[in-house]
Amino acid sequence: MGLIVLDAIEQYLAHLNRAGDPVLDDIAKANETRGLPLVDAEVGALLRVLATAVGARRILEIGTAIGYSGIWLARALPADGMLMTLEMDESRAAEARANFARAGLSDRATVIVGDARLKIAKVSGPFDLIFQDGDKRLYSPLLDRLVALLRPSGLLVTDNVLWNGEVVPGFDGPATQNPEDTRAIAEYNERLAAHPHLLTAIVPLRDGVSISVKTAGAGG
Ligand SMILES: C[S@@+](CC[C@H](N)C(=O)[O-])C[C@H]1O[C@@H](n2cnc3c(N)ncnc32)[C@H](O)[C@@H]1O
Repeated sequence: MGLIVLDAIEQYLAHLNRAGDPVLDDIAKANETRGLPLVDAEVGALLRVLATAVGARRILEIGTAIGYSGIWLARALPADGMLMTLEMDESRAAEARANFARAGLSDRATVIVGDARLKIAKVSGPFDLIFQDGDKRLYSPLLDRLVALLRPSGLLVTDNVLWNGEVVPGFDGPATQNPEDTRAIAEYNERLAAHPHLLTAIVPLRDGVSISVKTAGAGG
């Protein structure tokens, strides 16, 4: 049984969310045996809704993997929009580029290979939406840089913030996650909640997704 969302509810959401995108369906199907930590279609749909709602023209993603979440995001962009997505693993980045091409999105998706810790200093904003789904221990160290790269009223969306429920003090279920990652995410959630330039809500969808809006007077 899912610890955050009941299996029956997840199945119900999946039944309603039949986007029918052959490339996304194909990546998700192939990943059933491969097991890469990709978002699912429900989180993908949320990303697309959020990007559409803010009229995103420029999106930044940390943690491309093979482009699954990136395709959901890029589908919300206008023809002259841009998704910049950072991935450390060269072979995953190459696969992501091939998947963006299959999805007809090569013109608006740029995959940058390298360590987000270094690459992020060279990225120029502003972005309308940033999706943080890279190394959990970098969530907190990169936070202020990502906020600076967001336009006022832009969104910072972060995946896995409930981390199988293990961030909850006193969690007594079977722990499956690395405790250092758990501590890093718990610290990140506290920082999001207290951040002077962000308003944050956490949606307990799948593994937990935080949605933070940069407050209008924050500058950057
Ligand atoms: C959870 S996966 C991303 C999944 C993807 N967003 C999706 O849902 O389709 C995290 C990815 O971040 C990459 N990553 C980890 N540390 C990184 C770093 N320091 N810089 C760039 N990418 C990193 C990993 O190689 C991995 O592919």
